[in-house]
Amino acid sequence: MPSSPDLYAFVRGELVPLTHAYLHVSDLAIQRGYGVFDYFRIHETQPLFVEDHLDRFYESARLMQLDVPMSREALRETVLELAQRNNLELSGIKLLLTGGYSTDGYTPVPEQASLVMIQQPLTMVEQSVVDRGIRIMSHEYVREVARAKTINYTMGIRLLQRLRELGLDDVLYHQQGVVSEFPRSNFFIVRQDNTVVTPAQDMLFGITRKKVLQLASQQYPVEEGVVTLHDVWQAKEAFLTNTTKRLLPVVELDGQPIGTGKPGEVTLSLLAAFQELEQAALAKASVV
Ligand SMILES: Cc1ncc(COP(=O)(O)O)c(C=O)c1O
Repeated sequence: MPSSPDLYAFVRGELVPLTHAYLHVSDLAIQRGYGVFDYFRIHETQPLFVEDHLDRFYESARLMQLDVPMSREALRETVLELAQRNNLELSGIKLLLTGGYSTDGYTPVPEQASLVMIQQPLTMVEQSVVDRGIRIMSHEYVREVARAKTINYTMGIRLLQRLRELGLDDVLYHQQGVVSEFPRSNFFIVRQDNTVVTPAQDMLFGITRKKVLQLASQQYPVEEGVVTLHDVWQAKEAFLTNTTKRLLPVVELDGQPIGTGKPGEVTLSLLAAFQELEQAALAKASVV
């Protein structure tokens, strides 16, 4: 991983320079791809929506039968300490918990779990991408433990080459035509009657998704339920959500335009509302 010489990371109980942030090869993340993580933005030293991310981190760990070797308070304190130490303008912190060091390379030893925190500078999506929207393809796949944010992104990474060849931006997973999520984002459609709909099965509960649902429900009818590929092509608008991209208009699926084939007004109004919510959350955190 590229790392700036001045950054610090937290590895198995210690703050260390990022250039020395290593795990032993016996770690179950390396041996078997066993682990969970969470990722949130840091604005200067303020984490955004940190309580939601901590909730999800503990839930991912529980679903994967991993014990977080730190209390929630200590975890939050360590995040803040790391953010203050690194003091970056805009960055993301990845909280990572793996099955840890294992003597036989298979069986987890609970007291050997590896808790890691790394922080890297972050660049948000350029306005030109929001203005043009993204073009995507579908692919039949469901993540193994879809409710957990596990470290297994094998399918998404394998599909990068095909995306490059086709000149597309992302891939939407579905099972027998019922869509779920992107490798790293949630998915929404806006029906012709302005109902905002998002899948609720076989996907991760994104924090951006949760905030967008709350915001959308103040202005539009909202549904969490089944969305088919057919629904997407019949929709007025579509967009994805995640921590680094906020809301990004999706204008084409498998070569067919969605709605007018341009970013839609509901999507853009929700993006504006989300940016306001972000600012309010950061302002509130800086007062506490
Ligand atoms: C599989 C998956 N779905 C959805 C998301 C979006 O979640 P969030 O809005 O919390 O970033 C992510 C985030 O990386 C993800 O990995």
